Amino acid sequence: MNTGLKPAELIYPYFIVSGRGKKEGIDSFPGVFRFSVDRLLKDLKGLQGLGLNKILLFAIPDKKDAAGSGAYGEDSVAAAAVRKIKERYPKIMVMTDVCLCAYTSHGHCGILQGTGYRVQGTGRTIDNKKTLEVLAKIALSHAEAGADWVAPSAMAKGQVAAIRKALDENGYKNTKILGYSAKFASNFYAPFRNAANSAPKFGDRRSYQLDFTDGRQALGEIASDIREGADMVMVKPALSYLDVIKEAKAEFSYPLAAYNVSGEYSLVKYGASRGLWNEKNMVFEIISSIKRAGADFIITYHAKDIARWLKEDMEDR
Ligand code: PBG
Repeated sequence: MNTGLKPAELIYPYFIVSGRGKKEGIDSFPGVFRFSVDRLLKDLKGLQGLGLNKILLFAIPDKKDAAGSGAYGEDSVAAAAVRKIKERYPKIMVMTDVCLCAYTSHGHCGILQGTGYRVQGTGRTIDNKKTLEVLAKIALSHAEAGADWVAPSAMAKGQVAAIRKALDENGYKNTKILGYSAKFASNFYAPFRNAANSAPKFGDRRSYQLDFTDGRQALGEIASDIREGADMVMVKPALSYLDVIKEAKAEFSYPLAAYNVSGEYSLVKYGASRGLWNEKNMVFEIISSIKRAGADFIITYHAKDIARWLKEDMEDR
């Protein structure tokens, strides 16, 4: 199949936990695991062997609290992993997710206000200013550990600017920012939330993630991330939002990533396991559609499968 697809256009997400010797399966997320760093380092050898060179890290802390304090220490699960990965594999491009939902006891992507706060349907609100302070701290701790890119995904207003400022002021001008600019409040995130144990404990994320009935708002979010200094912007999820990807590329011609999210991936895997379709053909059709729409990079849990299939195709020729 001549898709023109290259492994270097793919970004593979990893979930990391503390401890040693761990490679745990995840509910409703076939083929994806939570790794401890030692096992992750082994897995990366295989990843590199497939020609993949970009990863996006999600860490799962041992403890959660209202302040999300497990997110930013220099020995946080994420920072410790980044340090070890860059030491062993300096050429792998390491991107880290910068958010709070996996670290907060309530599972929201920001710091909540004292008592009278407002999250859609709950009467609680996110304190944007405090959230920005913490996101900047997280991003800085990842940059200090050696992350090449930080990827803020909390959908807090001004998050890219706040992170850019903190990085610049601390001598990390070369650390790049991938904004999760157009992130929709999607049903397709369910397996991910099992992986990161990050589902909100009350309410939902509609007060800070985008409404899927409105595509225009997404373009406004992308424009503001570019203004704030993002080096690349993202549309997420990918498949139900190909129109947004296409419009974003046309309107901004800016480096653009699309996140082919956990639910999109699991649908394909489950269908294939039931014999509904050929997994490889299905994945190539899907990834081609995301490329066609205009994505320069695709974040996908299928990255290893794709790289393996591309290799096999080459060998068959
Ligand atoms: C939030 C975040 C989410 C994903 C990555 N970071 C979604 C959410 O829970 O709102 C989802 C990715 C996927 O489904 O693969 N910080």
